[in-house]
Amino acid sequence: MSRVAHPAGPRHADVLPADHPPAPPADLNALHPAIWPRGARRNRGVLTLGGADVRDLAGEFGTPVFVTDEEDVRGRCREYMEAFGADADVYYAAKAFCSRAVLRWVTEEGLGVDVCTGGELEVALSARIDPARITLHGNNKLPAELSRAVLAGVGRIVVDSFEEIARLAYHADEAGRRPRVLVRVTTGVEAHTHEFMATAHDDQKFGFSLASGAADEAVRRVLALPSLEFAGLHSHIGSQIFDTAGFEVAAHRVAGLAARIAAEHEVTVAELDLGGGFGIAYTPEDDPPDVKSLAAGLRAIVAAQCSAFGLPVPRLTVEPGRGIIGPSTVTLYQVGTIKNVDGIRTYVSVDGGMSDNIRTALYDASYTCALASRSSDAPPMLSRVVGRHCESGDIVVRHAYLPADLAPGDLLAVAATGAYCWSLASNYNHLPRPGVVAVRDGVPRLIVRRETLDDLLRLDAG
Ligand SMILES: Cc1ncc(COP(=O)(O)O)c(C=O)c1O
Repeated sequence: MSRVAHPAGPRHADVLPADHPPAPPADLNALHPAIWPRGARRNRGVLTLGGADVRDLAGEFGTPVFVTDEEDVRGRCREYMEAFGADADVYYAAKAFCSRAVLRWVTEEGLGVDVCTGGELEVALSARIDPARITLHGNNKLPAELSRAVLAGVGRIVVDSFEEIARLAYHADEAGRRPRVLVRVTTGVEAHTHEFMATAHDDQKFGFSLASGAADEAVRRVLALPSLEFAGLHSHIGSQIFDTAGFEVAAHRVAGLAARIAAEHEVTVAELDLGGGFGIAYTPEDDPPDVKSLAAGLRAIVAAQCSAFGLPVPRLTVEPGRGIIGPSTVTLYQVGTIKNVDGIRTYVSVDGGMSDNIRTALYDASYTCALASRSSDAPPMLSRVVGRHCESGDIVVRHAYLPADLAPGDLLAVAATGAYCWSLASNYNHLPRPGVVAVRDGVPRLIVRRETLDDLLRLDAG
């Protein structure tokens, strides 16, 4: 087992001790361009997103509300497409945020869509995404989901267990279809930010273990079933990754499997899907690589590993979720109670919380926030932005510097909440989930409606 830490580059905020706040920023009103959506500006002090004034957005749609800069999303899609080039495929991982509007934007920009449940698949199909451009993932796909995917003509199904290979073949036979299948491989590599861990064994629920020989056996079984078309191999090593080193070890191990497949079956692996996990900046300390260098790094890694095993280079696929949608979106909250806990910090309560952003509580994630409805020259006040749930762990931003004149009724914006916030949202404490508003050229458009108390009561069978 080797643990590799990459000392180069700034420290990630998440490695700071939990209660060790960073130094206050020089300018509380500044919008760090790597953290805020590309269309974020201050106009006479007020935050505007995609040309829309946040006070108008809050007035029209209420708070809390997610606001997505459409042009930011589209721009990132174009960058991924350009950086990976015509001989690669980019699939948007819909688990990061799944709505029909966003799935249409990403496919209009040339990406495919990766879904991991029947629910996400239905959203994609109802958005009229070409089924051939959809990949279905999941470690426990239900028989009905497999059948739906086969009948809909989903382009690739990533198989994850021996039972599933047999089940999929059954559904394919029954439908008279021959789905294309990727075999998900567990490489023993787990990567986060600048660190990865490479083990010889795999202790997780996803995929077929390379170390145990299960991956070789899975390929054997797929190739033996005439109703399945073996399309290639899949590996996903982690999330919020800033460094390509972990991908190198994973690609080396997968290329070893490809070489064994060539030797045993005389079959060339046509596609290598390296999954997603590309990191974004949540705080000024985060310094992810740009997409161009990331793509160049991954392409070079795949070429080198294939050449080491004397293999032709397969078509490369990547599945970014966070990297496409994460930076495009901010959550707008209204400030409520402000409580100074003497000598420690100020607790700023907002009208949402862990039900619209569980990442801080779940992963100890760090975020950047700013007073949005006006600017302020007041001195920085060390704050903790908390929600209104019945949990002391209901923290939205653990360490925030906000102007000392912050007052109830002010609007607060939390940046980079596009990925894994709305999609992990809950109704804890019976809070309705916020809506999502897309903004383009100053024009807002509701893409996910806010829940109402009626929505919550409708599910209560009485
Ligand atoms: C198989 C697979 N692909 C892609 C992704 C997307 O990851 P990210 O949003 O970090 O890019 C995930 C995330 O869990 C995943 O499991």
